Amino acid sequence: MSDPQLSPPKEGATAAATAAAKSTSRRPSLLLIVGGLVTFVVVALALGLGLGLGLTHRGGSSASSLLPPASSSSPLPGSGAAPNASLEDWRLDPSHYVLDMAWDINAPPTTRHYDFVITEGRGWPDGVVRDMLFINGKFPGPLIEANMGDRLVINVTNKLTANATTIHWHGLYQNGTNWFDGTTGITQCGIPPGQSLVYNFTLEQFGTYWYHSHYSTQYLDGILGPLIIHAPAEADARKLYDSDRVVLIQDWYHDVSQVNLETYLAPDNENTEPIPDNGLINGIGYFNCSSYDADSGYTCYDNSTYSVLSLEPNTRTRLRFINTGAFTEFDVSVDNHTLSVIEADATLVKPVTVHRFPIHVAQRYSVVVETNQSTSTNYWLRGAMITSCFTGNNPVLDTTTKAVISYSGNSTVVPSEDASVDWTDAIPIHCIDLDASTLVPTIPDPPPAATKMWRLDFSFGIGAYQLDRAKFNGTSWSVLDNTTTLIQAVDGLAAGQAQGSSSSSSSSSASKWAVDGPVSAFGSNQFVVGLSANGSIDVVDILLYSLDEGSHPFHLHGHTFWILQTGAGPFNWTAYQTTLYPSGGAASPLTANALRRDTFTLQPYSWTLLRFVADNAGLWAFHCHIAWHLEAGLMMQFLSRPDVLARTAVPDDVRGLCTAAGGK
Ligand code: C2O
Repeated sequence: MSDPQLSPPKEGATAAATAAAKSTSRRPSLLLIVGGLVTFVVVALALGLGLGLGLTHRGGSSASSLLPPASSSSPLPGSGAAPNASLEDWRLDPSHYVLDMAWDINAPPTTRHYDFVITEGRGWPDGVVRDMLFINGKFPGPLIEANMGDRLVINVTNKLTANATTIHWHGLYQNGTNWFDGTTGITQCGIPPGQSLVYNFTLEQFGTYWYHSHYSTQYLDGILGPLIIHAPAEADARKLYDSDRVVLIQDWYHDVSQVNLETYLAPDNENTEPIPDNGLINGIGYFNCSSYDADSGYTCYDNSTYSVLSLEPNTRTRLRFINTGAFTEFDVSVDNHTLSVIEADATLVKPVTVHRFPIHVAQRYSVVVETNQSTSTNYWLRGAMITSCFTGNNPVLDTTTKAVISYSGNSTVVPSEDASVDWTDAIPIHCIDLDASTLVPTIPDPPPAATKMWRLDFSFGIGAYQLDRAKFNGTSWSVLDNTTTLIQAVDGLAAGQAQGSSSSSSSSSASKWAVDGPVSAFGSNQFVVGLSANGSIDVVDILLYSLDEGSHPFHLHGHTFWILQTGAGPFNWTAYQTTLYPSGGAASPLTANALRRDTFTLQPYSWTLLRFVADNAGLWAFHCHIAWHLEAGLMMQFLSRPDVLARTAVPDDVRGLCTAAGGK
């Protein structure tokens, strides 16, 4: 173990650690752009109808639509095409993401059943046809809406031909049901093709969450959706808005994630992440087919359009933004409208007015927007990609992902450029979070004093076979085959316990697993730190140190953490020991009402001090949510409460996935 508990931080966390210059990555097939095509062609009805399932158009080989000239009477691209339901029956009706304000937040607990059938097929969210994955035949996935205290029973059936799958419920505690956390190789093996798993857990939290496949980079191909939980405690917040809806925002690639992953992980490619081709809002995006030349190999339908959010004039709407993407942080704004931030990752906060807010992968923010501007135009909702975090550029990418906010009475019209005006505030040049100190939880919940402190370092580097790997305290994660760390721990602890009781001495084999600190028993690709190993509940401080030049949205499964401090350069160890550890509980100004969330963005060569209560028995992933980085190994785990795990049985149906043929 390279970083024992309470060891002072290492010096020299400088650029030299991973200073290799990043190269520019371009796919040869994207190099040629058909430029200068300025024919303003509104998509013809005939063309729209001509897009039968077998009939494809290559970009550039047919009449292409561009954005119509800016004027208040310009129809949305694609809006001239008659809707052909059977043609796009894979598209989720966007109205499903509009929440019903009549929902009873005080209803007694109930059990809600869902069936998720995972299939593969072809879709074209932005007009470019690709292989993708669907839940119940749709993209994006269905809204799950429930009350705190409810039980969710979700039967996930894998109808893929070759790949396993899982669903992770991002942000949920799963206290007592660690095996339903959905994390491949940690809490379950993948559900093999042809098989099902019934996830069954109760909801102990409320707010804006989401779900996604946690099997390799699979969620990028379409297995994702929103999960909204209500509670009586949101009653005050509900007075701030008249309507409520979900807005998924994400980057999008025109190739399946496995292809991009192989390119990314190829030898000699030092952390050059694939640059997205487009962005989507609620699964819809506009793409100019002429960006691809005729022999690009991509099929592009000219009927792509923008997502439209139709609101009522003079009302207040809660927009629950969820970044469901792979890599890209967006800076979100609505032209001519300020936004009032009221929630960060399911923590309600005192309203903060902003022009723009940054949202990194897997984060959520709720903002209230008031439709109090002129009704003679529509307005752009803009998601500006923070492109300084890309290691190159992609010539086909429009770096501003847009949707239309409409309360003009005409939702099929593109906002006019002179009436709908972008804020002039600069887009951040770093991938950052909204300043945690400005987000004050409305329901105070100060952290208890810490009892343990761990320093975790990570970096990227070219390793064996010239493969780029991320390392957490020296260990690069890779997925276990046909077992999980949860099963290994439960079995190891149970075996040790049996041995311990028969010899009536403390068991040596159990002590391999019930460790206060790094647990080496899992093998060389699993960095696991044991917590609450001595029968009492640890309150853990994590000092997470980045030795990398990129920004990383880190997510901890099964917990919400307090963000206590962030900084660059050396950590002030002495100040920490005198003010925060172990005495600094609610009394410390740093911790008084610190923001709680489950995903935060760590800056390059910087550190963040997080605190959480290790009261949740299980194996919990802690990882960068950039899908490429996760697959490069930027994940570690906490093994919490081995005393409880020793008395725990992993349900047979979950355990059976690891021995089923085709699982992983
Ligand atoms: Cu969104 Cu490991 O999770």
